[in-house]
Amino acid sequence: MRQIWIRKPGDVDVLDIAEAPAPEPGPSEVRISVKAVGINFADLMARMGMYADAPKLPAVVGYEVAGVVDSCGPQVEGCVEGERVVALTRFGGYATQVCVPDIQVFPLPSTMSFSDAAAIPVNYFTAYLAMYHFGNLQDGERVLIQNAGGGVGLAAVQLARLTESTVIGTASAAKHASLSEMGVDHCIDYRSEDVVDAVSRVTGGGGVHLILDPLGGPSLKADYRMLAPLGRIVAYGASKVVGAGRRRSIPRALGVLLRMPRFSPLALMNDNAGVMGLNLGHLWDDIERLRSVGERILELAAEGRIAPRAGQSFPFEEVREAHRFIHDRKNTGKVVLTAE
Ligand SMILES: NC(=O)c1ccc[n+]([C@@H]2O[C@H](COP(=O)([O-])OP(=O)(O)OC[C@H]3O[C@@H](n4cnc5c(N)ncnc54)[C@H](OP(=O)(O)O)[C@@H]3O)[C@@H](O)[C@H]2O)c1
Repeated sequence: MRQIWIRKPGDVDVLDIAEAPAPEPGPSEVRISVKAVGINFADLMARMGMYADAPKLPAVVGYEVAGVVDSCGPQVEGCVEGERVVALTRFGGYATQVCVPDIQVFPLPSTMSFSDAAAIPVNYFTAYLAMYHFGNLQDGERVLIQNAGGGVGLAAVQLARLTESTVIGTASAAKHASLSEMGVDHCIDYRSEDVVDAVSRVTGGGGVHLILDPLGGPSLKADYRMLAPLGRIVAYGASKVVGAGRRRSIPRALGVLLRMPRFSPLALMNDNAGVMGLNLGHLWDDIERLRSVGERILELAAEGRIAPRAGQSFPFEEVREAHRFIHDRKNTGKVVLTAE
């Protein structure tokens, strides 16, 4: 089998493919022959040496795969070799074969492709928890999805559309046409417009009830100014620490981190506002909850109420191009690698 290694922090050329022996499943593990691997922004940050949760380099990262069960440990109940599945992997997903605890493995609806399935775990779990667990989005509310054209962003758009809410999304202008088709009511080009002014314009000065923010730093400060009474912000990333380049810039990262606002409970009380933080990677100890979120998402997909999809696919060998594509902000939605 093959694995993609990050040898050391750096540009995309530190990604390297190597052969390795097939892993043997532990007693409660399922071995998956991988057909598609989801790429996440966190993988780019890990490659740049900017992701605190990443394993120490050299490492094989990767949070999610879709494929076929090819073997199971003796304690796995109901193992079906050949079953089509999608799984959360706690790293190691950039590989053509992985072993995963069975609680992290979900059967796929028969109509869903492996590539589309690989778009589910990180993006949809994050968006679902942000929007419905913390965010409690209700009919009639207005939601602002920052970075709506990204993987989590598009998942959030689809999940928001389960309610009768008004969806506002920020993204580069090139993504606006497809975002409108997917149900975003108002697209804002954050590169040419001031987002606070634009939100005030489209909401008639009323603000928004929920904001999903993966940008961090100064963006969170601006978010707070856009909240309607009883408004909530769910912060779940710090994309702004990554600049236009593909290498780590410590001064830039520090600048963004230092501009993260501090929210006082007294001010939150008096403003009737809520600010919450979400990190899926810190929920591994609550795997039962993640499991129930996964089951709910796959149910919604099987009912046709959401339609997870891979925006762009690259062959496994073209992982460098895939990372570069995301750095260049060319992706709309999820980017996946496909393996034979
Ligand atoms: N806390 C959690 O549990 C959790 C889970 C998943 C993801 N996240 C975070 O959510 C964010 C989105 O993740 P994702 O995997 O869905 O990625 P993604 O949104 O698909 O990432 C690429 C897109 O992000 C936008 N972007 C903003 N700043 C960027 C930068 N500095 N460099 C390149 N692109 C930038 C670009 O879209 P535009 O050109 O349209 O702006 C780009 O196309 C990341 O910050 C990630 O770390 C957090």
